[in-house]
Amino acid sequence: MTYAAITGWGACMPPAILTNHDLATFLDTTDEWITSRTGMHERRISHVTATELAAVAGARALACAGLAAGDVDLIIYGGTSNDELCPNSASGVQVMLGAPRAASIDLNTACTSFCYGLATATAMIRTGIVRNALVIGVELISRYMDWSNRNVAVLFGDGAAAVVLQSSDREEGMIGAVLGCDAGARQTLRVRGVGCAYAGLDISFGDTIWDFDGPAIFKRAVQAMSEASTRVLRAAGLTADQVDLVVPHQANLRIIESVAKYAGIPMDRVIVTVHKYGNMSAATVPVALVEALEARRVKPGGVILIPAFGGGLTYCSLLVRWGERVTPLGQSDAELARCTQTALELVNQVRANQDPHGRSLKGLMTPVLAEMRVGR
Ligand code: UT7
Repeated sequence: MTYAAITGWGACMPPAILTNHDLATFLDTTDEWITSRTGMHERRISHVTATELAAVAGARALACAGLAAGDVDLIIYGGTSNDELCPNSASGVQVMLGAPRAASIDLNTACTSFCYGLATATAMIRTGIVRNALVIGVELISRYMDWSNRNVAVLFGDGAAAVVLQSSDREEGMIGAVLGCDAGARQTLRVRGVGCAYAGLDISFGDTIWDFDGPAIFKRAVQAMSEASTRVLRAAGLTADQVDLVVPHQANLRIIESVAKYAGIPMDRVIVTVHKYGNMSAATVPVALVEALEARRVKPGGVILIPAFGGGLTYCSLLVRWGERVTPLGQSDAELARCTQTALELVNQVRANQDPHGRSLKGLMTPVLAEMRVGR
């Protein structure tokens, strides 16, 4: 039997930090409200493109696995933030890494994109289509956030992380998955203004309206993640006390606590990053996984439960059995370009574009795919 072991991991967090107090300088909100309702204190705002964040995370994951970019068979770019629609973003990462053999796929199931990517790549390895894969979760939500809407603007952040999967005959990597979509509620989370439906209208990329029914999503998220976790554990013949670690999607601390309580798993076995990074959509799970590894909280042979949900409303719960190695084989020297602005300055640039006279974002975007190479 073939399995898909997780052999490398790496994150790339943009350095600029946007605090709750920064948000309160232009929104009718308070640090107290944000902290008590969400658990969030700060989030990151990127000064570079999503493809650059993804490529640096990918280079770090490859070095960790000791795998040369030239040996990568498959790149999955999981996320809802694409620099362009065509060419796709995974091919941009491929160029930056120098991975000529790879097949490159963009996969968008909103916040669950990394998890669906992990399931897809695992299936492709287990069926022999590819031998190794780079799976990335990445978001650059700050560029299409409606910064005038306090219901959503306080919740999200930017970031990226990646893992390397390699064919193995030991039973490790993803050993179970429940995937689904509560499509009847898809209108509860909608970003209007980006996509073909808006072509020809006099709007620029940053002009978005977010339809976001927070309380409805909250309830459905807790229910879907809890039920999917029960099902994936039952299918694997495991009980909650056999789960060593939970690495959940990070949308709200109260959602995470509710899912853990339903599963009967104490919070000291749950990885939480939402206070530092907010909701990074597809990037939350891989970033939390990388931080768990760096903090030595992943043990050899450990069982990890990964519940997630997002726009669609897609949901899932994955079960991963970790292998023997919990330390990196190598380190990449890939770095982002230096950031010379504060997070608030970066946000204010996007906000300026959202005025009724709609200036273009052209000045803000760093040149996309200047064929920067971050790989070996
Ligand atoms: O990853 C997938 C996407 N993420 C999610 O789906 C998150 C799911 N939902 C949630 O996390 C929570 O529902 C929220 C954090 C979004 C909202 O928390 P809530 O406890 O459900 O609050 P609420 O929406 O019921 O709003 C309560 C009040 C409202 O005022 P009124 O109508 O009671 O006077 C809001 O207008 O809080 C107000 N409010 C705010 N006040 C200060 C909403 N946003 C803010 C804000 N600052 N940023």
